[in-house]
Amino acid sequence: MKTAMSTTRERYDALRALALKLDLTRGQPGDDDFDLSNAMLTIVDDKALVTPSGVALRNYPGGIAGLKEARELFAPVLGVQPDEIIVGNNASLALEGSALMWAMLKGVPKSTAPWCKGEVKFIVTVPGYDRHFLMLERLGIGMVPVAMTADGPDIAAIEKIVASDASVKGMLYVPTYSNPTGDTTSQAVAGRLGRMQTAAPDFTIFADDAYAVHHLDDAPPAHPDLLGAAKRAGNPTRVILFGSTSKITFAGAGVGFLGGSKETIAWIGELLGTQMITPNKVEQYRHVLFLGRYPGGIAGIMKAHAKLLAPKFNAVDAILTCELSGKNLATWTKPKGGYFVSLDTAKPVASQVVKLAKDAGVALTPAGATYPFGKDPNDRNIRISPTRPPVDQVRKAMEVVAVCVQLASET
Ligand SMILES: Cc1ncc(COP(=O)(O)O)c(C=O)c1O
Repeated sequence: MKTAMSTTRERYDALRALALKLDLTRGQPGDDDFDLSNAMLTIVDDKALVTPSGVALRNYPGGIAGLKEARELFAPVLGVQPDEIIVGNNASLALEGSALMWAMLKGVPKSTAPWCKGEVKFIVTVPGYDRHFLMLERLGIGMVPVAMTADGPDIAAIEKIVASDASVKGMLYVPTYSNPTGDTTSQAVAGRLGRMQTAAPDFTIFADDAYAVHHLDDAPPAHPDLLGAAKRAGNPTRVILFGSTSKITFAGAGVGFLGGSKETIAWIGELLGTQMITPNKVEQYRHVLFLGRYPGGIAGIMKAHAKLLAPKFNAVDAILTCELSGKNLATWTKPKGGYFVSLDTAKPVASQVVKLAKDAGVALTPAGATYPFGKDPNDRNIRISPTRPPVDQVRKAMEVVAVCVQLASET
């Protein structure tokens, strides 16, 4: 008689024999997503060399904050006014890195000394985004992990930490459809982040709103108004927002932007202006023309993305439900937007699952990547990125993942 264990092992061996080559590591759009924006490649031609506001695209003048038309287009994405945004070059991560480096070297508007003169720690949410952890690590900024919850970061824990420790200078996290849990900060939590008492007078929230408009269905949660909440509490420089078009048009080949109060924009604008004369205005105008003409604008193209991406997220949930529900082996998120699904195994077997999946031809993000220094203390979390492969590949890959969870949990 076959035992349950041999059955799972047999299934795994049969899947391995298929010599699959599938990849769930890449938080990237699919080629069909990119195809939505192909018209952008040629939309700026020699008849569109000067913007309606009179800026020559091919020359330096125009200022560090980017085209007026681009600021008007992207300000609503971050929920700010056009004079509260700088539209820059191709990566929000580069803007985050610049703002953090300037904070280390010179301090932020309310600092009395550069941050690098003393110990600096940041609150990070876990599970979270590996590139955030790496950036902080490389800058010598310590990390204080707090849990991500369905309402956003664990606000009670944060209030306690920041009230007593003046070396906790800030926080770096994803407020909307968090990477990887898909959780969105509630307005109540945003309010508490904006008004909490901080031992450091220059405590700054670096809010990476990479997925601000990346809804998967028609009933999205309210966009958290972090900046508004901080302003209302008399802390206008507490919040800096970041975003980009990497998952709206082309990944790493679009524009990034930074939002904040006028004081914040004046501070960072002056410093960024020492690093470049102007951002790439040709790229910005491409986006202005293309997204401005897209039916429904930015919301319109995001709906078209959702049509392509939602079936992939549905496939992840359907396979995991069919294979794992009721077995107490794992829990997983069902995000309403963003780019990831977060899976937690019940037993400390995440690294074993990732290894088994790799041996069966399915690449997963390394276990631990969603924690600082690549170390998940519980070895339970796995980030699933279903957006890039076609849906049939997502289904097959998730079958392998589910079988690996079962197999690893048996031992
Ligand atoms: C939370 C988050 N921020 C930033 C990025 C990268 O954005 P960009 O291409 O604008 O640097 C990603 C990409 O996966 C992300 O998940």
